[in-house]
Amino acid sequence: MTDAERRTALEEIAAEVRVCTKCRLHQTRTKAVPGEGDPDTEVIFVGEGPGFNEDRQGRPFIGRAGDLLVKLLASIGWRREDVFITNVVKCRPPDNRDPQPDEIAACAPYLRRQLEVLDPAVVVTLGRFSMGTFMPGARISQVHGTVRPVDPATGAGAALVFAMYHPAAALRTPAIERDSYADIGAVPAALLDSRRRREAAVETDVAQGTPEADPPSASAAIESPEPPSPPAPTPAADDATPQLTLF
Ligand code: URA
Ligand code: SF4
Repeated sequence: MTDAERRTALEEIAAEVRVCTKCRLHQTRTKAVPGEGDPDTEVIFVGEGPGFNEDRQGRPFIGRAGDLLVKLLASIGWRREDVFITNVVKCRPPDNRDPQPDEIAACAPYLRRQLEVLDPAVVVTLGRFSMGTFMPGARISQVHGTVRPVDPATGAGAALVFAMYHPAAALRTPAIERDSYADIGAVPAALLDSRRRREAAVETDVAQGTPEADPPSASAAIESPEPPSPPAPTPAADDATPQLTLF
């Protein structure tokens, strides 16, 4: 898919989200928040759901949690425009309550389609609800800062998922803020790791005579022998690599 095709496909999904009535959250939203970012990025950040400010402006992570996310990104030399940022539910839960399972399920196809279009190398989950989509059954206190292969059923055909605390939790608790800076420091290495895996998957397909697709493609990934859920979380590559300006 070309950059322009990706942009168009993401805009089609966003247009559907803006008028969606598939769950009760549409009744109380001001604006739906489809997500935004570089359509050609390798990294997607997935939060929980819009808050007060996001609901008013229709853009993700623009309040205090967003400010912290921008600072966390800056600590590894990235800007929010370099990545794609979205949420598990695209409409604000009233009074910032937790999204309910039926709301998450109703909204899931939008995130899945965004992932199919973006075909990210790394999915960074922010908080428990996002983690639950990509690392079912995991506990955030145990898996934050670690990576696993993503189940291709999520729409991300060949990605590693990297779990982080939600920035709002980091705003409340200094120890979590410190952990968040340490965790995001490992994301560039996870991206390098994921690139290597994707290249290896494409080479395997070529060696096996699978018709060559644009590497790295979703189809190559789906056919890759990657186990969807390894027994235990692997710590993110910690071979301190200082020079990791990947964007
Ligand atoms: N918190 C989220 O989870 N998402 C946003 O977009 C903003 C705050
Ligand atoms: Fe539709 Fe998702 Fe908004 Fe529910 S949260 S109304 S499913 S866009």
